[in-house]
Amino acid sequence: MSTQIKALVFDAYGTLFDVHSVIRLCDEIWPGKGTALSQLWRAKQLEYTWQRSLMQRYEDFSHVTRAGLRYACNALGLRLGEAEQARLMEAYLHLATYPEVQEALARLAGRKLAILSNGSPAMLEPVVANAGLAQTLDAVISVDALRIYKPDPRVYALAVEKLGVPTGAIGFVSSNCWDALGAKAFGFRVFWCNRAGAPVDELGVLPDSEMRSLAELPALIGAA
Ligand code: 2OP
Repeated sequence: MSTQIKALVFDAYGTLFDVHSVIRLCDEIWPGKGTALSQLWRAKQLEYTWQRSLMQRYEDFSHVTRAGLRYACNALGLRLGEAEQARLMEAYLHLATYPEVQEALARLAGRKLAILSNGSPAMLEPVVANAGLAQTLDAVISVDALRIYKPDPRVYALAVEKLGVPTGAIGFVSSNCWDALGAKAFGFRVFWCNRAGAPVDELGVLPDSEMRSLAELPALIGAA
């Protein structure tokens, strides 16, 4: 008999918040370049988290997010002035939630609900508040306390410590497959929200469940 799930821990960027909701602003500043810029920006932001963890040269998520933006603009030949950088970083504090998020979280009430994210506290607090999720979540947990990024197992252990719920009773939800598999390797029950219908990453472990939207989660949890 599998242990009942007592807490659900959600990744933030890409899972609850759509990082590509900045495309409109990118296109406003650099018409026609928004999608390419947003994709390269996100890719470099994540690369820098992994590389800085391995280098043991931690800088917080706002630092690596700005660095990824600078790289992406350089690579695409876009002039990034201080004003544009400030507007785009501000947009990261106002990211849209995916359409099903509010209702899905409301249907999961009764369990502890938390965020575990690479985001710094200074980025997470406003984006959560601006999305109207502050009252819905019991905790917003940042890797910044550890100064190392996902998928280091110490990050997932932080959720166990902060929530006071045993590993086997925690369900972890992420759209980022590498993050979902890092959480699986740590020992959580893992629900991968595969919005893009991508193949699973080849990292030696598999998610416990796969869905295309968080709307499927309450039924999956009910069965879990
Ligand atoms: C997060 O930690 C992986 O960027 C994603 O919120």
